[in-house]
Amino acid sequence: MNQEPIGVFDSGVGGLTVTREIMRQLPEENLVYFGDTARVPYGSKSKQTIIRYSTQITNFLKTKNVKAIVIACNTASALALESIAEKVDIPVIGVVWPGAIAAAEATKTKNIGVIGTAATIKSKVYNRYLHQLNPEITVVTKACPLFAPLVEEGLVEDRVTDDIANRYLGEFKDYNVDALVLGCTHYPLLSNTIRRTLGDKIKLVNPAYETAKSLKEMLISKKILNTSGEEVHHEYYVSDMTDQFTSFADRVLPFSVDKIRVVNIEKYEQE
Ligand code: DGL
Repeated sequence: MNQEPIGVFDSGVGGLTVTREIMRQLPEENLVYFGDTARVPYGSKSKQTIIRYSTQITNFLKTKNVKAIVIACNTASALALESIAEKVDIPVIGVVWPGAIAAAEATKTKNIGVIGTAATIKSKVYNRYLHQLNPEITVVTKACPLFAPLVEEGLVEDRVTDDIANRYLGEFKDYNVDALVLGCTHYPLLSNTIRRTLGDKIKLVNPAYETAKSLKEMLISKKILNTSGEEVHHEYYVSDMTDQFTSFADRVLPFSVDKIRVVNIEKYEQE
């Protein structure tokens, strides 16, 4: 009946935007969420460190008997997915490949913009995937490191954020970009700001939606959808108890999160 949970992890709170989409599209699935609130942000860290952190989290999720893992963080998906997928014998899905597919489908001009953390943009993973999907696509990228902290501070509708958006996104107007990948978990919450900056015509691609869709397709094809009909459980773990986690969860999720447990994640270095 496949009642084992799906493990979802992120560098902190951002992955809750992906979790929200999974809850919408797969309401019958049990979930275990881990947010690495003690070590966020990943976007300014090296590949080696991101792989080490992601491996520890994967080891922790395995102790929860998860049947699949969703890396609900663009930075960890860009830098650690291949390494994680090699280490486990359950399916692992990241947010980058589904996001790239959605963008390749959305563009008409074949000019796609990608915004993300410094590490995601430096990895060029979106460029690689988009060219794999269509070699004619031109990709214009921009790291927007201040966006995630602005969202976490609740400044989603604020002049300061509009000013920063103008500075970061202005150059997309010089290219004929008609689709923009929101390549960081926090950016879908800035959709209004981004539209104000770039206009209504640009298609904003939220990888979270496509990731939940790919997850559903994968669970169906592997015949591991939860068909038990039993009450659904969502568990939340973090590496540090922060007020931000609870307030962000309340803003983003359809259910209130009453129990969050702290895990000493460094303990999970070895499998
Ligand atoms: N969750 C990260 C991402 O999607 C953003 C926050 C961070 O830098 O860790 O890239």
